[in-house]
Amino acid sequence: MPDASPEARAEELCRLLQRAAHAYYVLDAPELEDTVYDRLYRELLELEAAHPELVRPDSPTQRVGGTPAAGFHAVEHRIGLLSLDNAFDAAEFAAWHQRLLRVLEKGVAAPDAGARQRDGAGDGDLALVCELKIDGNALALSYERGVLVRAATRGDGSSGEEITANVRTIQSVPLRLQLADPPEWVEVRGEAFIPDATFAAINAERLARDEPAFANPRNACAGTLRQLDPKVVAARRLDFFAYTLHLPDDWTPEIGNDPSDPPRPTTQWESLQWLQAAGFKVNPNAELLPSLAAVEGFFAQWEEGRKALAYATDGVVVKLDDLALQERAGFTQKAPRWAIALKYAAEEAPTRLRRLTVQVGRTGAVTPVAEFEPVPLAGTSVSRATLHNADRVAELDLHAGDTIVVRKAGEIIPEVVRVLSELRPAGAERLGLPHTCPECGSELVREEGEAATRCVNSSCPAILRGSLRHWVSKGALEVDGLGSKLIEQLVHRGLVRSIADLYRLDADLLASLERMGETSAGKLVAALQDSRQRPWHRVLYGLGIHHVGAVNAKALARVFLGAAELQAAATEQPEAITAVFGIGEEIAQSLAQWFGTPANLTMLAALAELGLTLQASEAERQAAAELAGAGEVAEGPDKPLAGKTLVLTGTLPTLSRSEAQTLIEAAGGKVSSSVSKKTSYVVAGAEAGSKLAKAEGLGVPLLDEAALLELLAPIR
Ligand code: IVH
Repeated sequence: MPDASPEARAEELCRLLQRAAHAYYVLDAPELEDTVYDRLYRELLELEAAHPELVRPDSPTQRVGGTPAAGFHAVEHRIGLLSLDNAFDAAEFAAWHQRLLRVLEKGVAAPDAGARQRDGAGDGDLALVCELKIDGNALALSYERGVLVRAATRGDGSSGEEITANVRTIQSVPLRLQLADPPEWVEVRGEAFIPDATFAAINAERLARDEPAFANPRNACAGTLRQLDPKVVAARRLDFFAYTLHLPDDWTPEIGNDPSDPPRPTTQWESLQWLQAAGFKVNPNAELLPSLAAVEGFFAQWEEGRKALAYATDGVVVKLDDLALQERAGFTQKAPRWAIALKYAAEEAPTRLRRLTVQVGRTGAVTPVAEFEPVPLAGTSVSRATLHNADRVAELDLHAGDTIVVRKAGEIIPEVVRVLSELRPAGAERLGLPHTCPECGSELVREEGEAATRCVNSSCPAILRGSLRHWVSKGALEVDGLGSKLIEQLVHRGLVRSIADLYRLDADLLASLERMGETSAGKLVAALQDSRQRPWHRVLYGLGIHHVGAVNAKALARVFLGAAELQAAATEQPEAITAVFGIGEEIAQSLAQWFGTPANLTMLAALAELGLTLQASEAERQAAAELAGAGEVAEGPDKPLAGKTLVLTGTLPTLSRSEAQTLIEAAGGKVSSSVSKKTSYVVAGAEAGSKLAKAEGLGVPLLDEAALLELLAPIR
């Protein structure tokens, strides 16, 4: 078509290429030879280069565009993204169904329910759509007049991060809807994911480049979506299944205008068809089913069937088909009543124990670790799991060469479930914790009533490494460029024997270390210099005193305006310490012990001399004085956790156990030590154990520290 106008030709090329890409990426039924596609694509590129005014935002050449972003902005979702309640067995699923029938029958959710009382509800035969639950990351896509204008992560459900440039690189996300007469706006939700094979290739490349492998496809996908450079995103080849459609209330396609546009859906099933017609990839395994029994059959079928899929799924999402009934059923606080996720049990696999080792943390606590032959579990290869403490090791009754069953709790944290003792080699030796510290050789101690076994040698290199890692972490002194590897080198070579030594390092010495150069050494020295300005409460937190997490450090620093004041109170006036809101006996004792240890005082003196901030600033002093003048701070009326019971498990990144408890109680919640169906939330941190598994089993919602702090926001 050599004599067509450039404009007409560009439009034609766009159309042809869009069609070909849709056939290839969405329908999986290529229409054009690769070479033909490439030729047309090049022609369009050249045409657009010669006539930049012809570049349309939905042109296939615009998928990977522009320069890396500096960061992401938050955007409000036009319509919030909900999460789903879980059901872990048939009984829970049946209970959900019963509840749904009851709600629909009573019509409690909508005032006009009476009028529609019996249209399909109450007879036990609700049509349900079953979709595979794709184990990826939810995305919200906004189209205006048919063109993709914005893509965002789920975020907290009401606002997420704007990642349009990255999402444009996903070939199965249409840049323009295939509709003759698109609505004013369309909101589409679906799951971005990385197929297993692509995931394996990405990890192989990362390992080859000495970069850490991603734990599983979902993490890889989440990490990729937050990449600042869209070119990297494009190379990771994400994919996308659409599953939810929102249209303007008053929109219907103009009848007769274009008969090929699909009609406005009135059911979820029709929504999926609409999405497909508009150019989206919709998971082909969804089914419209007439009854509870049929859904159970679907779930059972995919329990095996999912293993043959090219991507990870972690359950089945069941949705009430009729959109009008969905509206009538409404929502609980965070999830629709008209949908439920039926989850597959965490995967378990047998493997062979290689050895039992221990890790020494910054408090000297010794954590036993089982190392075993690598096994694939929920998308990753797993070869070690912590065993928490000596009691757990004894309980498992581990022997050398044992065959063990491992699983991933919450599909993230590997754990040893049991030992297959019938497969034990004859005469195998029983395993336990060592008596001496593997790092420094000193005797390990386990105090009465304590779960942890500890190394109490304060100059143990493992403890030192842990303290240094904590000192430089976010929330504490936040020193960029001082990672675990470098800390290991510094300690190993004897260049750093205490926190204070960090501030005595010079750039020349640093530059001579492995994997360091002049630039990184210079940056690190500057970062250390900068950290001298961190306020007193962060220094206090950074010291890593047992039970003094970020929150307690702040509370203490507000009352004790310098290290000297705190030391005096800790050693001579414990009642002044416990008088601080949220600070109890245990913390007072821990402080007394810390300040009673001469080595710690020597270190404090050294830090002061090196210019670290061990005193509140003038502004902080003034604020403290005003606070004292105002008398008791009135407690706000907010009790965001009133009536809720929470269980804490594992180590949270910044809050100590007692801090978390204090905050929860201040918010009106209760902290309990065991998980039951009545538990409102389980707050899980690193190395969470059986409580997390139990919560999973019971479908108790899980929170991480960030989510907990979000709930606590009104009182903080
Ligand atoms: S529907 C109210 N459908 O699962 C509707 N979600 O655990 C909420 N997911 O945040 C979502 N596949 O990221 C829906 N076919 C599917 C899904 C699906 C995966 C994810 C989604 C959601 C999470 C909830």
